[in-house]
Amino acid sequence: MAASLSMALANLCFLLLLLSSSKAELSTNYYSKSCPSVFTTVKSIVQSAISKERQMGASLLRLHFHDCFVNGCDGSILLKDTLSFTGEQNAFPNRKSARGYNVVDDIKSAVEKECPGVVSCADILAIAARDSVVKLGGPSWNVKVGRKDARTASQAASNRDIPAPTFSLNNLSSSFRAQGLSTKDMVALSGSHSIGQAQCSKFRDHIYNDSNIDSSFANSRQLSCPRATGPGDKNLAPLDLQTPTVFNNNYYKNLINQRGLLHSDQELFNGGSTDSQVRSYSTNPSIFNADFAAAMIKMGNIRPLTGSNGEIRKNCKRVN
Ligand code: HEM
Ligand SMILES: *[C@@H]1O[C@H](CO)[C@@H](O)[C@H](O)[C@H]1NC(C)=O
Ligand SMILES: *[C@@H]1O[C@H](CO)[C@@H](O)[C@H](O)[C@H]1NC(C)=O
Repeated sequence: MAASLSMALANLCFLLLLLSSSKAELSTNYYSKSCPSVFTTVKSIVQSAISKERQMGASLLRLHFHDCFVNGCDGSILLKDTLSFTGEQNAFPNRKSARGYNVVDDIKSAVEKECPGVVSCADILAIAARDSVVKLGGPSWNVKVGRKDARTASQAASNRDIPAPTFSLNNLSSSFRAQGLSTKDMVALSGSHSIGQAQCSKFRDHIYNDSNIDSSFANSRQLSCPRATGPGDKNLAPLDLQTPTVFNNNYYKNLINQRGLLHSDQELFNGGSTDSQVRSYSTNPSIFNADFAAAMIKMGNIRPLTGSNGEIRKNCKRVN
């Protein structure tokens, strides 16, 4: 009796140990001994890439988002397709759309020179996203690190889990909820569309078919986005028409004026439950900045591989 009780206790302890080790957490000082230069190295390459091309900051921010929403922040989006491997880069949300992979490779090479085999590609994405936002005038936050890189990727999960520009407010909320993020986080993170560009094919239906759009804005967007599918599909327009290369709260002011570029953008201010949050961000940049930073940390915590799960890829494009 006593023996079986102590057995049961031992089992319980073992179970608790397992549970706690599988919940290993990210931390800001993870590399402080093993690669103290990582933050300055990432920052300097991000800054020079953005100085060459302002849009690159937006592209790097989006890579981290598209990484985290597909089986967690595990660098899976960086794995290139090969003859025998299908990853996420050609999934619908990424194909001919996601960019910045070369900058990530440049960062990885520089970091590998300083600390070989130490820093994950997933962490590089998280740090580069923060540095991009800061370089373009947005808020800063302390990036938690310690993620490992996945040895797999999933095109199907990418198609399923990254929200689409055709989504309704409800669709957007459920997509974020599936990642453990609230509707409030979703509205704050959408402020990322304060920077960067979208292609005609992604906003065509909104500017031709939706009625919740300012007509002069719709007209001016139609000038460079023909109604018919064709070569114009790739034509770009800024997600924030006012300050497309500065990270600020103008995105929310546009929404109030029915000047959201994507159908999904305008859903955040369309007579629904999120209108009040959009109004608040449009007049309170400091509330927006604080909520955005907090939500980025939350997004960066989505199901990371830690401890002995995953690997530190030598080359972000392929598994070791
Ligand atoms: C709320 C749901 C979201 C939807 C439906 C959505 C959809 C899109 C679409 C369709 C584009 C244009 C892509 C193209 O035309 O090639 C885009 C661009 C962008 N998205 Fe989102 N997005 C969402 C949330 C987010 C979040 C949470 C972030 C970051 C945390 C983000 C960051 C960006 C950035 C920075 C760009 C511009 C990229 C560039 O210029 O290279 N988006 N998004
Ligand atoms: C979006 O919402 C509609 C109606 O609520 C639902 O029928 C549809 O399945 C949702 N789509 C996605 C991709 O979640
Ligand atoms: C707009 O709606 C019509 C009717 O539903 C549809 O045929 C058309 O493809 C949609 N898109 C554009 C860009 O006109």
